[in-house]
Amino acid sequence: MKPKAQVYIFGIGSGIGQGLYKRFLEDKSVSLYGFSRKGELPLNVFSKKENGTFVFDATKKEDLRTLEISLSEKYGFKKEPTAPNYIQTELYVYFALGDGIFGTIDLLKKKDLEAHFQLNVHSLLLLSKYFSQNLPFFQQATFVFLGSTAGKQGFPESAAYCASKHAVLGIARALREEWKPFGTKVVHVSLGAVATEIWDTRPQFDKNDMVSISDISEYLWSISHLPKSIFVDDLSITPRKGIL
Ligand SMILES: NC(=O)c1ccc[n+]([C@@H]2O[C@H](COP(=O)([O-])OP(=O)(O)OC[C@H]3O[C@@H](n4cnc5c(N)ncnc54)[C@H](OP(=O)(O)O)[C@@H]3O)[C@@H](O)[C@H]2O)c1
Repeated sequence: MKPKAQVYIFGIGSGIGQGLYKRFLEDKSVSLYGFSRKGELPLNVFSKKENGTFVFDATKKEDLRTLEISLSEKYGFKKEPTAPNYIQTELYVYFALGDGIFGTIDLLKKKDLEAHFQLNVHSLLLLSKYFSQNLPFFQQATFVFLGSTAGKQGFPESAAYCASKHAVLGIARALREEWKPFGTKVVHVSLGAVATEIWDTRPQFDKNDMVSISDISEYLWSISHLPKSIFVDDLSITPRKGIL
């Protein structure tokens, strides 16, 4: 019997990633792995598990290294000969981790800027690299990058956020081309406002005007059920009022 589809969600501690994780819990056809600093299990047991949430800090070198090794133990060159074979199985990876950095540019602090890019850009590149080493061991893979309308246009008091979200779009576009030989689907989602904690420091925006976490979770989950020959590239999603 072929193993269940393998679903990875990074950023399940709150917001969109948490909502999506809950939605996937209802889907018994998949093995589900969630990652965030608030995961339940230590990262070093992940390669032996078929489900679970794991403690993972995407800005920590040692966590990134553990994840890289664990993935190759589970699927790749370090796999034990008796371990399951995933060659008829699909892989789905959702990147829902990230933070916001807002304010006029004169107030921008170098330390905050570095941390923001570490989490929002570097970690996505590294995680993508670790999965790429294992793509040949799956039938097909789908990667979903949660980007933002700030990845396609500018907003005041958002220079760093706009820069990092433009970078996310660039990463998705590049990997879509690079992974064509594997038949990998790479979906970039330009998200408008979703009512999560990311807005808590910006009370001028009303959460009632935003997309709800459960609605966006339902939509993102449905990407894992696209017909085989459908390749979606850039999706734009906004609430009723459009860009707030
Ligand atoms: N909400 C919106 O309106 C909106 C719009 C466009 C785009 N987006 C993007 O969507 C993504 C999710 O946003 P959200 O609104 O759901 O924000 P959120 O509620 O703040 O969620 C951020 C997620 O990232 C995880 N995270 C933060 N630091 C981490 C670290 N060092 N290592 C691993 N995980 C970490 C958090 O989990 P832990 O704290 O447990 O680690 C949490 O699950 C972000 O990239 C955001 O820019 C959001």
